[in-house]
Amino acid sequence: MPRVRPRRLRQSSALRRAVRETRLHPADLTLPLFVREGVEEAMPIGSMPGVVQHSLDSVRRAVTEAAEAGVGGVMLFGVPAERDARGSGATDPRGILNLATQVVREEAGDAIVVQTDLCLDEFTDHGHCGILDSDGRVDNDATLERYQAMALEQARAGSQLLGLSGMMDGQVAAVREALDEAGLVDTAILAYSAKYASALYGPFRDAVESTLQGDRRAYQLDPGNGREGVREAVIDIEEGADIVMVKPASFYLDVLADVAATSDVPVWAYQVSGEYSMIEAAAMHGWIDRRRAVIESVTAITRAGADGVLTYWATELAGWLNDGI
Ligand code: PBG
Repeated sequence: MPRVRPRRLRQSSALRRAVRETRLHPADLTLPLFVREGVEEAMPIGSMPGVVQHSLDSVRRAVTEAAEAGVGGVMLFGVPAERDARGSGATDPRGILNLATQVVREEAGDAIVVQTDLCLDEFTDHGHCGILDSDGRVDNDATLERYQAMALEQARAGSQLLGLSGMMDGQVAAVREALDEAGLVDTAILAYSAKYASALYGPFRDAVESTLQGDRRAYQLDPGNGREGVREAVIDIEEGADIVMVKPASFYLDVLADVAATSDVPVWAYQVSGEYSMIEAAAMHGWIDRRRAVIESVTAITRAGADGVLTYWATELAGWLNDGI
């Protein structure tokens, strides 16, 4: 007869719930939202069933719904009608992202944390995260000036947390300096520190109608490098990041655990578009149980060390949690 019986605590759902180490909470979730310029109503995104490009009107409702479900924050992305080499729309106070930020902040007040993606790729006609030099390469230092200008507009529009996702060296320090000089000392920085050059961003390109040719391997991290992910997080914390992030989440749980072990600021993870669409597609075929896969995936990300998770399921998952799954 076995002397040790770990199964004893797995007998009933009440026992399992009582001894569970990792619990999900709506406040730890952030919902990414796409807002498209010039549309009257929400438009579906083919590669992300259930996710839409919002109008300025429909995004209000989505934010209210998220706030009512107890979701912690929303991360806004803009899909502009026109693009150019410098990404001018990103620094136009009437540009779609800045406009959406104002609208959402007015709607939500302080009920939910209003966050904005700070990157140029949605606004440039070439689709890269920065501006290009004469050889067609992303010019790191020239891009930093654009990020500084973007940061000021986003903060003035009401963003409380700037999501720096461009992977330029020195971006956190540059943005912190610009904010501080403008007296915007309370605007916080979420650094996408360990952002890997991943195939899992595929569906997102569709969501923002990206025009990118080629890839981002010259600035996003190489998937083979774990230590470098930790190094990037350490650098960003030194530069003044208030929160650091690992992205994608599920394929990088080792990096997430290592960053969580090192960091003295909150660590978040982004369950990206490809992670979403893989589960949705398999569930549509009846190959996996959608709800269990969603809960298990976000539980795994949390168990690995994420204090917060950006996920396209945020509102729906929060609803399940409120119902006591
Ligand atoms: C950059 C950005 C991207 C994502 C979030 N911010 C795209 C990229 O780096 O290629 C991807 C998010 C997702 O796939 O869900 N603006």
